[in-house]
Amino acid sequence: MALSRHSNQGRRQHPTSAPLHQGSTDAHIPAHTLAETGLGEQLSYELLTNELLLDGQARLNLATFVTTWMPSLGGRIMHETADKNIIDKDEYPQTAQIEARCVNIIANLWHAEEGEQATGCSTTGSSEAAMLAGLAMKWRWRERMRAAGKPTDRPNLVTGANVQVCWEKFMRYWDVEPRLVPMEGERFHLSAEEAVARCDENTIGVVAVLGSTFDGSYEPVKEIAQALDGLHARTGLDVPLHVDAASGGFVAPFLTPELEWDFRIPRVQSINASGHKYGLVYPGVGWAIWRNEAALPKDLIFDVNYLGGHMPTFALNFSRPGSEVVAQYFMFVSLGREGYRRVMQNAQDVALRLSSGIEQLGPYRLLTRGDELPVFAFTLRDEVTNYTVYDVSERLRQRGWLVPAYNFPENREDLSVLRIVVRAGMSLDMADLLLEQLSEETAFLESLDGPMPSAKETQRQAFSH
Ligand SMILES: Cc1ncc(COP(=O)(O)O)c(C=O)c1O
Repeated sequence: MALSRHSNQGRRQHPTSAPLHQGSTDAHIPAHTLAETGLGEQLSYELLTNELLLDGQARLNLATFVTTWMPSLGGRIMHETADKNIIDKDEYPQTAQIEARCVNIIANLWHAEEGEQATGCSTTGSSEAAMLAGLAMKWRWRERMRAAGKPTDRPNLVTGANVQVCWEKFMRYWDVEPRLVPMEGERFHLSAEEAVARCDENTIGVVAVLGSTFDGSYEPVKEIAQALDGLHARTGLDVPLHVDAASGGFVAPFLTPELEWDFRIPRVQSINASGHKYGLVYPGVGWAIWRNEAALPKDLIFDVNYLGGHMPTFALNFSRPGSEVVAQYFMFVSLGREGYRRVMQNAQDVALRLSSGIEQLGPYRLLTRGDELPVFAFTLRDEVTNYTVYDVSERLRQRGWLVPAYNFPENREDLSVLRIVVRAGMSLDMADLLLEQLSEETAFLESLDGPMPSAKETQRQAFSH
C-alpha cells in the first residue's frame, strides 16, 4: 500500500461536499479527521462518487495489466460474495471447495502431472505468490545446506534486472542477495547463459518471467531450464527454476499451447500467476502452484481447523475476501477454454493492429510487437530530438489515455519507452481511436520548430514496476 503520513490538515474541508441539484449546503466535513457527525449514506455516496471523477478512466488505462472490465454478472457475484472471509473454511466450505477447484483447473492448464500431486493456493496477487514461492525456495535451499553441513547465511536469487518489483521486495524482506542480470544491447530480459553464470551453491533458485513487465516478451524458460540441467550434470549444483507467469500464465496456454514453459519442464518447481490480470478477474487474486510435495517444505504450512478436521494453508495474510476466488471460478465456468482462447486472441489481434499502426506513423521504433503477451513497448527513433516519449505520454493523457513512459533498468537506463497493455475490453474500435489520436498528437509534436519546453527528466513522475 502507498504509505501515507499523518498530516495536520484536520481542518481542511472535504473538496466536494454539495449534493447535486441542492445548491449550497452546510454539509461540510473535515477531510483528514473523523467528523463528529456523519453525513449519512446518500450524501456520502454522492460526495465520494464526485471526488472519484478525478481519477483516470480505468478502461483507458493502458498502463495496467490488471482487469478493468468484467461481465456485469461477474461483478454482481463479487458483490454478493464480498462478505465471505476466505480463511473461514468452516463457515464457507463451498468457497473452500471452489478455491480447490480453481487450483486444479490452473494446475491442469500448466500441465501438472497427475502422479505428482501438485499443490497450490490462491493469494492476493502475484506479489504474495512470489513471496510464498521465494520462501519455499529459500527453505529448501536451507535444508539442503544444513544437510551438507554448510553455512546458510548467504542465500542468493538469480533473475533478470527486468523482474517486477515484487521479487526485489522478496529479496530485501527475506534477506536474500539479489543477483540481477542486467540488460545488454537489445537483450531486454534474462538469457540462459547469463542466468547460469551467476549460480553457485548459495543460489536458492532462478526466476524466469513469462511476460516481462517492461516489454511483454517471454523469457526463454526452456533454454534456461536446459542450461540449469547442464550445470547440474557438470557440477552437481541442482538449482530449481520458478516461473513468474503473472500475465503469461493465462495467455500462453491459450495462444501458444505448444510452447513449453510450465510443469512439462521437470526443472520448473513452482509457478505463479495473477488471476486479476489475464485470469480476467477484478483485483486482487493470484495463484501459486508447486509441482509436488517436495517443492513445498512442510514447515511453511499451517493448519486451520476445518469442519472438525484440518485444512493446510500457506499465506501471508489471514483474512481476505472470498469474492475474488468465486469470481475466478465464475470466469472459468462461464468462458471455458474456448472462451479464454477467444478473449486472448482478441487482445492479441488488437495489440498487433496497434503496434503495426504505431510503427507506420514514422517516428516510432517497436521493441516488441505484442505477439507474446498482448503488450508492447516502443521508443522514438534517434532522429527525433524535439520531443521525448514523456511528451507523447503527457499529450495522450490530455486525451484521456494512460500510456506510461519510463526508462529501462540497469545497462539500458538510456532507453526510454512507452508501453501499451491490451486487455479484455479494449476493442478494435477503441484501438483505432487511440491510433488516430496518437497520430494527431505525433503530428503536432513533429511540427515543432524547436525542442518542447519539457520538465527536466528528473522531475518526471517515475513509473514503478
Ligand atoms: C511479471 C510480474 N510479476 C509480478 C507482478 C506483480 O503482480 P500483482 O500485481 O498480481 O501482485 C507483475 C505485475 O505487473 C508482473 O508483471
